[in-house]
Amino acid sequence: MLAGGSGTRLRPITHTSAKQLVPVANKPVLFYGLEAIAAAGITEIGIVVGSTHAEIEAAVGDGSRFGAQVTYLRQEAPLGLAHAVLIARDFLGEDDFVMYLGDNFIVGGINGLVERFVTERPAAQIMLTQVPDPRQFGVAELDATGRVVGLEEKPRRPKSDLALVGVYLFTPDVHEAVAELKPSWRGELEITDAIQWLIDRGRRVESSVISGYWKDTGNVADMLEVNRLVLESVEPRVEGKVDDASELIGRVVVERGAVVERSRIVGPVIIGPDVQIRDSYVGPFTSIAAECALAGSEIEYSIVLPRASISGVRRIESSLIGHDVVVTPAPSTPRAHRLVLGDHSQVQISS
Ligand code: G1P
Repeated sequence: MLAGGSGTRLRPITHTSAKQLVPVANKPVLFYGLEAIAAAGITEIGIVVGSTHAEIEAAVGDGSRFGAQVTYLRQEAPLGLAHAVLIARDFLGEDDFVMYLGDNFIVGGINGLVERFVTERPAAQIMLTQVPDPRQFGVAELDATGRVVGLEEKPRRPKSDLALVGVYLFTPDVHEAVAELKPSWRGELEITDAIQWLIDRGRRVESSVISGYWKDTGNVADMLEVNRLVLESVEPRVEGKVDDASELIGRVVVERGAVVERSRIVGPVIIGPDVQIRDSYVGPFTSIAAECALAGSEIEYSIVLPRASISGVRRIESSLIGHDVVVTPAPSTPRAHRLVLGDHSQVQISS
């Protein structure tokens, strides 16, 4: 499981926290991957961590909550996916393994893929999916029979619209390839090049094209979409307190310790533990994490991280709001904006 990288596209959230821990329906993206791996019967998990190792370790612990044993493998710098395989060499030994990118979200788990791999045991098995802009991914070229004949990392002129999904299965053959790689134009050891190395030497590389939904949760728009998708199937549940003056419509989860007063919540929505919502509207596809406070405000299609406080603001939408953020209305006169924004923040203000 790869959980390094610096998450530049999710700044400023990722200045202070790991991108793999950004919550989807109030659960870190990384946990969905760990659950999928454990569900496929894989219980020895090595997590490659970088500068955010302390936070990842604190969140995941020893893996027992996933029914797995977790070993942390430190990568000193984000030098590429194949570099992660290189530093995991001793941990992996002579075992077959799954490599799973911690910021990828795959609906439906990986059981089927793992079963196919165990039966057919090619040198590598990859997953592909059609994407609108393949230039942001590793891209596969298939021949008329559907066999992968070439792979290119972030090509300027993609040969297809089939992107490499961030879940790969390998036999130990891949170590031979990784050992011979040279850094790419972006200075990384690319797993894409390692798989191409296997193809060039006639080793068997199998692929499956998935139509199921998946996202590389590297940016805010994708995070919001994945959040929407997961919320669409939450089971409604109210463990907190909702007063008679409030209305819950559709799929709404109100966790233990949360208080909802004089408010309207239109699901799918998840309200985390110990959240306080007063005189507010929370609209569809919103996740509000633990200990947030919302007063006299309106929000929808957004993700709010723990302990944020929003008061007197209507209306917030398509937003990702970080830990401990405070959002308040500006005084009406003088008419000016007062901003304390983290590096790389993106703000839209109508003036
Ligand atoms: C990596 C891989 C790329 C793959 C993508 C999937 O890209 O290099 O081939 O398509 O993950 O998420 P990166 O996240 O390093 O930009």
